Amino acid sequence: MGKHKKGEEQDMGKVAIYPGSFDPITYGHIDIVERALEIFDKVIVAIAVNEEKRPLFSVEERLHMVKAFFKDTPKVIVDSFKGLLVDYVAKTNAIVILRGLRATSDFEYEFHMASMNRTLDTHLDTLFMMTSKDYFFVSSRTIKEVARLGGGVEGLVPDLVVRRLKEKFKLPVTKKKHIRWDD
Ligand code: PNS
Repeated sequence: MGKHKKGEEQDMGKVAIYPGSFDPITYGHIDIVERALEIFDKVIVAIAVNEEKRPLFSVEERLHMVKAFFKDTPKVIVDSFKGLLVDYVAKTNAIVILRGLRATSDFEYEFHMASMNRTLDTHLDTLFMMTSKDYFFVSSRTIKEVARLGGGVEGLVPDLVVRRLKEKFKLPVTKKKHIRWDD
């Protein structure tokens, strides 16, 4: 940690990189960013450009949605990156990669990714934060599926994302406030 300093002269304080697909951003992601801001001075939300994953939203659309949400939060920087995450991190002032962990099912994937990143750059650590109980079942994948099938995702993603999903799928999104277990 601490090796990744571009321009040591400009002290941005403690910076964390929060990478992901954010296809689209959910309140689960936002919860992690907001809690991280209590620990770090800045959080860079880094949207991966990975066309192999066949994202629903283009990187421009994803950037727009994330930037719109954090427009009044100067401690959050929103950016996109291509290629290896470790290479992107090295160009920033970040000292750590931040990831959210929802359940044990996330663990193996996250463990592999953190281990690979640390192998590629032995100075780079990944910090995990447990997702809040309100959002542990929320993933971009399930949000897209529910929205595509016409279910309500209000309260789980920002209003702008609800609207964008509705436009993508050309379907009305119901007025239901939350998805509940018994729905
Ligand atoms: O939200 P996601 O899809 O779980 O995020 C995964 C992401 C974007 C963080 C990961 O795929 C990534 O870092 N991609 C960049 C390419 C890279 O560095 N791969 C090696 C890490 S194992």
